[in-house]
Amino acid sequence: MTNTRSAITGIHAYVPDYVLTNSELEKMVETNDEWIASRTGIRERRILKGEGLATSYLGEQAVRGLLKKTGTKPEEVELLICATVTPDMMFPDTANLIAYRTGLKNAFTFDLSAACSGFLFALTTGAKYIESGMYKKVIVVGADKMSSIVDYTDRATCILFGDAGGAVMLEPSKDGNGIMDSILHSDGVGSENLYQRAGGSLKPASHETVDAKEHFAFQNGRPVYKAAVAGMAGVVKEVMQKHNLAAEDISWVVPHQANLRIIESVANMADFPMEKVMVNIQKYGNTTAATIPLCLWEWENQLKKGDNLILTAFGGGYTWGAIWVKWAY
Ligand code: UT7
Repeated sequence: MTNTRSAITGIHAYVPDYVLTNSELEKMVETNDEWIASRTGIRERRILKGEGLATSYLGEQAVRGLLKKTGTKPEEVELLICATVTPDMMFPDTANLIAYRTGLKNAFTFDLSAACSGFLFALTTGAKYIESGMYKKVIVVGADKMSSIVDYTDRATCILFGDAGGAVMLEPSKDGNGIMDSILHSDGVGSENLYQRAGGSLKPASHETVDAKEHFAFQNGRPVYKAAVAGMAGVVKEVMQKHNLAAEDISWVVPHQANLRIIESVANMADFPMEKVMVNIQKYGNTTAATIPLCLWEWENQLKKGDNLILTAFGGGYTWGAIWVKWAY
């Protein structure tokens, strides 16, 4: 390893135009705006509509904007990682499709699957290619077309999820800013509380699996809720204690957006006032791998060089983690 850190030097995100509101969901399943807003904080979410438009499209739009904003020539990018649980297809990888459509001729690509923690896992992985000195320009994408695996007759899940994509540029930094540390965890104990029952090698898609709606996302919400609060609060404290960081040292907490009540509990347990916590769940719902880049994109103008950020997420698996970032621009 060199002394080089990996810094986020640009961010862009994309949300589709179609807004699925709570009142529209009221017409589809037995639910109501009051229940959804008070239990989750969500008012609306975006849905990608259109023939042939999949997760790669969400990622492609984010990457196009990122290349433009950062003045990067496509052929300069050496690696693109896409975190997603809704790949266009099992193979080829969605990262490959995004790179092809955005002209990243010299990049090698792969997808990374860690559910709602995918962006944190991919960011850490991408950063290592910069820190090792191997590459100078890496793009990390978090993108999910959750509407493709949501059962719009199941009120327990269909109110939660939305579609979006976000992308960051990683480059070497020698001024002390950048990705300072990551603590990431996986524990298969939660594998049956949040998963897609069929469509993989365990239960390949068949008429029976489709009839049983097993290709949709299934969630047993309560145990996931408890594990999410404990997991994120624990790992946020872990990274802060490891580096002697106090709540006052942190400018922004950037949490995965699954449920406003989870975010508030984590902030409370780690002693952060909500003013320091990025929250946009009311507009986008849970966009799985895209929530964290979507927040960074919306708050980009408020971020200052040297700001300490704590990124944290929890998702299916279980998977969870926290990353300490010193904002680099
Ligand atoms: O992002 C990856 C990680 N995922 C998470 O972090 C999500 C964690 N879980 C959650 O956020 C929450 O568990 C949910 C938002 C999914 C559910 O909230 P909850 O407060 O745990 O509700 P519940 O599942 O315990 O259901 C409470 C009641 C039930 O009725 P009864 O049995 O009390 O009569 C449900 O049938 O609410 C009912 N319910 C609904 N009512 C109106 C469930 N969904 C709905 C709905 N509208 N959409």
